[in-house]
Amino acid sequence: MGDPHPKIEARAVTRVFGRAARAVHALGPVDLTVAPGEFTCVVGPSGCGKSTLLRIAAGLLRPSSGELRIRTNARRPAAMIFQDYGIHDWKTVLANIRFGLDVQKVPRREADARAAHWLDRMGLTDFAAAYPAALSGGMRQRVAIARALAVEPEILLMDEPFAALDAQLRTILQDELLGLTQTTRTTTLFITHSLEEAIVLGDRVLVMSARPGRVIAERRPPFPRPRTGAVRATPEFAALTSELWELLRGEVGAGAAA
Ligand SMILES: Nc1ncnc2c1ncn2[C@@H]1O[C@H](COP(=O)(O)OP(=O)(O)OP(=O)(O)O)[C@@H](O)[C@H]1O
Ligand SMILES: [Mg+2]
Repeated sequence: MGDPHPKIEARAVTRVFGRAARAVHALGPVDLTVAPGEFTCVVGPSGCGKSTLLRIAAGLLRPSSGELRIRTNARRPAAMIFQDYGIHDWKTVLANIRFGLDVQKVPRREADARAAHWLDRMGLTDFAAAYPAALSGGMRQRVAIARALAVEPEILLMDEPFAALDAQLRTILQDELLGLTQTTRTTTLFITHSLEEAIVLGDRVLVMSARPGRVIAERRPPFPRPRTGAVRATPEFAALTSELWELLRGEVGAGAAA
């Protein structure tokens, strides 16, 4: 069964921003584990602490209490894709994709080959020399995805990577990500507002409460791997979507009233 230890393990993680009367209890306590090769999705109302959780997982932010452990093989890092792309505007598309490879000191030839592969896979080959300002939102997002995947991360942390895209492109990239993570068995923690997206992609879907976000439910979409986008048309998909929507609706209301 391979490595039995979870790749991501959160124990009673909380995060408070600010102090005293101004303190905002943003998150938790949250417990979660993500097994090797597992694709875990997190859905929850706006402001419930999803990005905060992911930033803690990425080591960009400390928890106020509790502990979050990431277990990577030192040679294969964790990569994060941000809600707002997180690519460098002053670097070309190619330089953005090369960035993580250079940081990792991947030898030049191999870095060139991998960058070319991901440019091609994301349909960006003709834009290698372009700057992000000259790209559409969807193309910028694909640069961010290519940059993250080019480092062949063992763990992928994705914060609403498709939120800014139109529905068609979003569907195409969901299917692409599905194929990709199934071939590479990349351990993934994926944040989204979209229940449909979570159900298509996830081995598990965790539902968070309104702020401070806690995990209030967990469902396993009943679709075996390898899975394709065709699951969207099944009755099970519709049933799970409405079940999760009922759960989430209460929380969205709770957040708005608070
Ligand atoms: N650096 C910060 N300083 C102060 N408050 C913060 C900071 N980062 C986040 N917060 C607050 O923490 C709460 C959770 O924010 P977070 O960005 O994690 O929510 P989210 O679930 O990702 O929301 P969305 O779905 O809109 O992206 C919010 O109330 C937010 O205002
Ligand atoms: Mg967020």
